[in-house]
Amino acid sequence: MGVVDMNIEKGVTFPVPDNVFAETVVSVKHYTDRLFKFRITRPASFRFRSGEFVMIGLPNAEKPVYRAYSIASPAWDEELEFFSIKVPNGPLTEHLQKIRPGDTVLMRKKPTGTLVNDALLPGKRLYMFSTGTGIAPFASLIRDPETYEKFDQVILTHTCRLVAELKYGEELVEDLKNDPLIGEFVDYLTHYTTTTREDSPRMGRITTLIENGKLFADLGVPPLDPETDRGMICGSMGFLKDLKLLLEKAGLIEGSNAAPGTFVIERAFVD
Ligand code: A2P
Repeated sequence: MGVVDMNIEKGVTFPVPDNVFAETVVSVKHYTDRLFKFRITRPASFRFRSGEFVMIGLPNAEKPVYRAYSIASPAWDEELEFFSIKVPNGPLTEHLQKIRPGDTVLMRKKPTGTLVNDALLPGKRLYMFSTGTGIAPFASLIRDPETYEKFDQVILTHTCRLVAELKYGEELVEDLKNDPLIGEFVDYLTHYTTTTREDSPRMGRITTLIENGKLFADLGVPPLDPETDRGMICGSMGFLKDLKLLLEKAGLIEGSNAAPGTFVIERAFVD
């Protein structure tokens, strides 16, 4: 068991349990008053599959509050990236949003999750459907070559209320294009963004755009087909529920790590 000093509350130290890593914040970027990303050091012994999540906390209490966070960086990255909402008066995020490079973040050692390539049967086209910070596990998967080995085409949909909330995903795809290691995969990736509460080139909930066929018309692909199409869903509870129904209506079947299927959902982040 180690002891960690938290910069936020200088001088106060708490013991770190054996099942927790104490890592250092490398960088922080704020996108809006509701969204920010941060990167931390990666412990040498930490292994995970792209798309999995971990429990994140701060060393600011004897019994810290932990919340589930998708790891947004791919399995091969030397650092760990997270994309977070700022919940007003949220027990974790009201403090987490104030972290700076050099601060300490706690991470439980065991990653887990169902938004992994292993939980899906092979297919032609992989849809990653996200709202808000639900893009995080897909930020990991679209940077992992394994995703493109398994699927011919990857379609990442991201719906947010406002244009500024799409920025993290846009930067991500732009950086991917310029990445010498994985930039070649961008040819197989389509980033499909929509907003619902601010004018933008494409508007509407993705569920509506599936139902009225606009998503498929825009992409130039046939409607959802369980023979060829696979889905991953991450976002708010209502979104998960509504989209699950639409995928099931199209004949897709929910899978898990134990029994791979034609779509998977992550329920860990819903509060
Ligand atoms: P809307 O603005 O129409 O509610 P939130 O910030 O509330 O998590 O929402 C993020 C995005 O997800 C918003 O664009 C929101 O659209 C959309 N959304 C919320 N609930 C659903 C749902 N049940 N089905 C599809 N999209 C949803």
